[in-house]
Amino acid sequence: FIVRPFLEPVPSLPGLYTSIGFSVFALITTLYLVPALGPTFKTKLSGRDLLKVYTDPIPESLGLVCASVYILALILFIPFAFSDSLTMKSMQTPEGIVVTEFPHSRLAVYLSSLLSLLIATILGFLDDIFDIRWRHKLPIPIIASIPLLMVYFAEGGNTHIVVPLPLRFLFGSLVNLGPLYYLYMSLLSTFATNSINILAGINGSEVSQALIIAISVILNDLLYLPWPIGFHLPVHLLGSKAEVEFGGVWSAGMAYGSKELVERHLFSLYFMLPLVAVCSGFMYHNWYPARVFPGDTLCYVTGMAFAVVGIQAHFSKTLLLFFLPQIFNFVLSCPQLFGLVPCPRHRVPRFDGNTNLLHPSKALFMKPPSSLTSSVLRILAILKLVDLTTHPSTGVILETTNLTILNFFLVRLGPMNEKRLVQVLMCSQIAGSILAFTVRYGLSGLVYDG
Ligand code: UD1
Ligand code: MG
Repeated sequence: FIVRPFLEPVPSLPGLYTSIGFSVFALITTLYLVPALGPTFKTKLSGRDLLKVYTDPIPESLGLVCASVYILALILFIPFAFSDSLTMKSMQTPEGIVVTEFPHSRLAVYLSSLLSLLIATILGFLDDIFDIRWRHKLPIPIIASIPLLMVYFAEGGNTHIVVPLPLRFLFGSLVNLGPLYYLYMSLLSTFATNSINILAGINGSEVSQALIIAISVILNDLLYLPWPIGFHLPVHLLGSKAEVEFGGVWSAGMAYGSKELVERHLFSLYFMLPLVAVCSGFMYHNWYPARVFPGDTLCYVTGMAFAVVGIQAHFSKTLLLFFLPQIFNFVLSCPQLFGLVPCPRHRVPRFDGNTNLLHPSKALFMKPPSSLTSSVLRILAILKLVDLTTHPSTGVILETTNLTILNFFLVRLGPMNEKRLVQVLMCSQIAGSILAFTVRYGLSGLVYDG
């Protein structure tokens, strides 16, 4: 066998290189602006680092700087995202109407995404200033997703789901969810924004989650690009010579050739590359011991960016797989979020200033818990997700460790310092992404055909 590499004529991707350039600009700007604006923020917005011995205020809500740089980069990038269409000529239809071939629907997708990001930024910043109540802030991302959903509809967006093989005898191979699919997508936006915000409170936690999810999305997008390198493998079959082409890379093998698919994943890359840049720049300053806090603004804008690409580039189910730690944290948090178990204002781990170690923090029952609450907590304790303190004689639950993934790590792995805990969180996020890729590209063949 002779392997002959070849360079394929692929669609040129100038937009992608420009996007990388803008991302470098966004990284440098964030690295510079965050410490430069920190003192200005500190006079208006600051918070005490709950897990330190010192009490000096730390500038809060610097996620606003990230969001601004991010959105600015995306706005400046608009002409480049459509550079291939700028030179398009107008045509006259037989009826005499002048039309241009400009991809208006792609522009609508881009602009509606920007609008949703802007609403998320405003919501996050308002939350930082006014501490908005949960029942008010949950529906706002749903409203912010309306422009996305409308554009999805206008594009003739698909609302079918492919039924896994074992369930096909019941539902057939495709089910049209119709309006339920829109409900699912709007809930995705509120989940993505809030789930990052409730996995927070230790230095670097919010931004590191966003960074790892964004890198995972980028890796997934890259699988769908038409790579320029491939291989011709000449084979001799029964005396006749044939050439087998392994090309445009294994380009997720599945995807190569579909222009629309490439365009969707390019769109996702345009939104994810500058996000990785601003998150990396911010993480440098937010890393233990943090010099700045992200505030809710960073959680909301990053969460909305994920919802935007998941919806607009049509990979919301794959995206959810990248949120495994957040899903775990949300499900575990439900008894506290929905009032079964008392939920203190801060559920961050407890800091021991003498040893510099973090311990699981606890929620205290002022009155004996209901039988439902007790049953839920006892099941969680059997699953080793929480530690309970019970009355020595009556067995009534007096205290439970707070229901967060951070406290769960401390219950299972023992006390550790803040930096180690954020590293454990990052490892779980990376492990989640590896599992996500395995499920998406390895195991999905078991339940889906093709
Ligand atoms: C969410 C969590 C809350 C957690 C808080 C920490 C739920 C329902 N809410 O609330 O349990 O305590 O995030 O962000 O799960 N802080 C630090 N170190 C950090 C980051 C933040 O000490 O690395 C503290 C600072 O005092 C900062 C404050 O957390 O001022 C910010 O809290 P905020 O984002 O307003 O809390 P919520 O998002 O409402
Ligand atoms: Mg917050």
